[in-house]
Amino acid sequence: MAIHEPEEISIPAEVREKYPSLPEQNPAGARLDWAWLAGHQSEWGIHPKPSARGLTMMDIAVGSYGDIPEHPVHRAMAARGSDMSGDTPDMGYILNAKSDVWADNVTELYEEAVARQWSATRDIPWTELQELPSDLEHAMCQLCTTLSEIEMIASDLPAKWMWRMNHDFLEAKMFLCTQIMDEARHSEVFRKRALANGGGLLKSRGGTETLLRTILEAKTYTQATALLHLLGEGFILDLFRQGEAIAPTEVEKKIFRMTMQDEARHVAYGTLHIRHAVENDPDVAEEIHEALDHGEGAMVALGRNPDMSTALALLLAGGAEHVEEKGFPLQKRLAKNQFSSYLARCERAGISRVERTSLDLDELGIDAESIKAVGG
Ligand SMILES: [Fe+2]
Ligand SMILES: [Fe+2]
Repeated sequence: MAIHEPEEISIPAEVREKYPSLPEQNPAGARLDWAWLAGHQSEWGIHPKPSARGLTMMDIAVGSYGDIPEHPVHRAMAARGSDMSGDTPDMGYILNAKSDVWADNVTELYEEAVARQWSATRDIPWTELQELPSDLEHAMCQLCTTLSEIEMIASDLPAKWMWRMNHDFLEAKMFLCTQIMDEARHSEVFRKRALANGGGLLKSRGGTETLLRTILEAKTYTQATALLHLLGEGFILDLFRQGEAIAPTEVEKKIFRMTMQDEARHVAYGTLHIRHAVENDPDVAEEIHEALDHGEGAMVALGRNPDMSTALALLLAGGAEHVEEKGFPLQKRLAKNQFSSYLARCERAGISRVERTSLDLDELGIDAESIKAVGG
């Protein structure tokens, strides 16, 4: 391959004057380009100020560096705001509208994610695990088996789309990188819990994978994020919020507290991304609705997963002997919370589902009017 050399020796007069000893060639005789020492199409000398936390991505989003174009014209990996030459290649991006990926909170969420990373190895008090009654240990292991399985979808899905996102939406891609790491850690922590207390991995069934496949195979990123962030992760977030009631010991409580913080960020991104997408392109609403029509059915099926649902009922009951009088009612309340907060999230995202959903709201005990009030 021929080595590309500058057309002309580029030592502009002002550079030559300021740095008279600059060589025109390197030791191998190749001509050198020093033009970058003088000319900047981008802004020079803007001096962003660190805030109390340090130098955040919000702090450096100043001047034109903070402008996220609605429709970037190029398709390169060049840093947004750099002096880009005309020969940058097309990287094959297909998500080239800001509304395809953006959320107004995404930069803050990235910073928060980086600040709150934790370690499943170090930050869970594994040595405090105690032998549990056999029914509780089995139930915890079953729940962890299913959770470890479904957590990774929230890594695979962003990973599938990220290389298709225009590089000018860097902050959104950086946030999704943190989600990918978070979900790797979630799969890790539930796998570790399944093994750590003398139990192991239990049952996995094909039915669970139906929802995962629905998410992975969504035709557009916005459909995928509605299914993943708004629906799927929202349900997991509400499940983790019940961690105090589910966890047999402080070890599991800590696991649920830590994973809950991460899920809250993922759901917050998805909610504001959907809102941004719908506000900027009202036509996208119908495609989101179609995805959720299908996804809600798959979510109901996942909720009926015969292994996870019974394990959850037993954990909520505190043991096998109280499943019927305590476990089932608590499980029903959890489902009501999950579907209520999902529907309220849809209202906040500008994609009201109350009139459209085929969920049986009466059966779930959900008052449609109170959900609609969330949307204002
Ligand atoms: Fe997760
Ligand atoms: Fe997540």
